[in-house]
Amino acid sequence: MLQIGLLGAGMIGKIHVDGFLSMNSKIARYTAVCDIDETKRNDFAQRYNFRVFADLDGMLADPDIDIVDLCLPSFMHEQFAVRIVKAKKHILIEKPIAFTLEAARNIFAAARENGVRTMVAQVIRFWPEYAKVKEICDSGALGDIVTVYAGRLGQMVTWVDWYKDPAKSGETLMNLTQHDIDFLHYLLGKPVSAYSAGTCDASNNYNDVMNIFRFECGANAMVDGSLSMTAGYPFTMRMRVLGTRGTLEFTYTAGENIDSESASMLMWYRPGEKGKKVEVEDYDPYGKEIEYFAGCIITGKDPETVSEQSVMQVLASILAARESLAKGEMKL
Ligand SMILES: NC(=O)c1ccc[n+]([C@@H]2O[C@H](COP(=O)([O-])OP(=O)(O)OC[C@H]3O[C@@H](n4cnc5c(N)ncnc54)[C@H](O)[C@@H]3O)[C@@H](O)[C@H]2O)c1
Repeated sequence: MLQIGLLGAGMIGKIHVDGFLSMNSKIARYTAVCDIDETKRNDFAQRYNFRVFADLDGMLADPDIDIVDLCLPSFMHEQFAVRIVKAKKHILIEKPIAFTLEAARNIFAAARENGVRTMVAQVIRFWPEYAKVKEICDSGALGDIVTVYAGRLGQMVTWVDWYKDPAKSGETLMNLTQHDIDFLHYLLGKPVSAYSAGTCDASNNYNDVMNIFRFECGANAMVDGSLSMTAGYPFTMRMRVLGTRGTLEFTYTAGENIDSESASMLMWYRPGEKGKKVEVEDYDPYGKEIEYFAGCIITGKDPETVSEQSVMQVLASILAARESLAKGEMKL
């Protein structure tokens, strides 16, 4: 059984561990935690009965750890990811992989040189309703895809401060809207242009953005994202796919953030018929992505669902959108 060490016992670290426990995996289990914050690491160690490390070198020296699940603040990903793969541990990296194409390339190259696998935790590709949208579209049942709308709206993160610093979080585009940009690439393939407009908040962050992407397949997509929603507005995800033979529409609302109680619905509208709710398998998407990555390691395959090529393409699109935002020009 593969052993996973969690690096970063913060908000998403807990979601990963709880999500993976819900899978009752037969191939991997979390056995260790590392965090610089003593209270947090001890809390995880006690709650889940993990081995505990105060620094990464200690965890990397543990020969029983096969995979490190990197859940550190975004600006630390590149530096820590390279250390992990050089220690010959497989790595699951929370999004965004890094803030520059060069940094992302360095991580993949270092992993290859050291014979280990890398997967970016692009959880939306594993999210039950989004995965169903992808399955229906790939089956051809919706015809050709004409237009996609995707949105993700919330309030500025309150559990830690680093998200407010654009140099640490990468603002809404890199931090939040990237989920939708990622899924659009998964669904539609290669984009040919990006146009973005946005509004800066009081701390000079573009935390409210609108983007238009055009894809080689002929489809257009509009994506909006905000971390500036009114206090009390629920965390919201939306997607609408208009095809030549029908429309799919997904709506999801939670409480203040993704870790709160939620309600979601996927509807399918066929020409001339009343809309029907699409039944979707119920599973934890974070658990599913971790199980998928562990499976890739056991079978010796690269994670095709989140391929290196796709990760690089998504990052290039986010950077193009950010440049367009600043200059008001079309990019790519
Ligand atoms: N996929 C998703 O839905 C989703 C949601 C939220 C966050 N994220 C991503 O997850 C990552 C973490 O976000 P978060 O909200 O959990 O952050 P967080 O601040 O809650 O957690 C980060 C943890 O890392 C620890 N840490 C910081 N420096 C360290 C070091 N040098 N060594 C060991 N531990 C250290 C902190 O003490 C903290 O416990 C970010 O990259 C973010 O983009 C993804």
